Amino acid sequence: MTKDAFTALRQGEMVLLYDFDDRERETDLAMRSDMMNPRHICQMRNEAGGLICTAIPYLAAQKLGLPFAREVLRNCAMVEKLGDIPYDPSNNSSFSLWVNHRDTFTGITDRDRTKTVNAISEIVQNVLNGKQVSFKEQFRTPGHMPILIAAENLLSQRHGQTELSVAMAEMAGIPQTITICEMLDDESGNALSKEDAIRYAKQHDLAFIEGSEVLDQWEHVTYPA
Ligand code: 5RP
Ligand code: CA
Ligand code: ZN
Repeated sequence: MTKDAFTALRQGEMVLLYDFDDRERETDLAMRSDMMNPRHICQMRNEAGGLICTAIPYLAAQKLGLPFAREVLRNCAMVEKLGDIPYDPSNNSSFSLWVNHRDTFTGITDRDRTKTVNAISEIVQNVLNGKQVSFKEQFRTPGHMPILIAAENLLSQRHGQTELSVAMAEMAGIPQTITICEMLDDESGNALSKEDAIRYAKQHDLAFIEGSEVLDQWEHVTYPA
């Protein structure tokens, strides 16, 4: 770890979140969705370059009526295997629907995607606080922001950046809606190596944290009864 990733996440800074040496071996830029503005989307698409997605907790997805994509696609005759990813023991993808907020135009611009991620964070917080909300009144699908649903039992069940980022938000005491994007390497055509990701973090004075460190914190966390 470089500077404290939990403090950085809480303060609305981008954090570099690496998973595990025996999983994807990828680093995602991660940031709390409620504090994102168009410059952050621009930074993710230019300097990370992967898919910009937004992770939310399982309970919020349940309350909003959001399914896993693998469940929606189960009846599609073209698809034989669904959501299977061989490098995660859960063997399940966390993808849900791809959405645009209804107050966007195409949905892809930095401003449009900011509107969508800010609104996802808001509706997640509202539904978790027991407020009446309607997802379909606020969002359309298909759209340009993939939603990722964290596994019900978070890190006990799955070890993706989806769960790592939602667990970090929970431990940091901030809204558990986190926007993430894989860092890719323009030269090699592969994911950015861990070493290069650490170098980027140092150059930009950003926090770098690994899944093993998040797991360690998670196992030691105690909540008041
Ligand atoms: C969406 C992905 C990324 O890998 C992202 O990090 C979330 O997936 P996971 O939880 O499986 O790591 O595939 O672009
Ligand atoms: Ca990942
Ligand atoms: Zn991925």
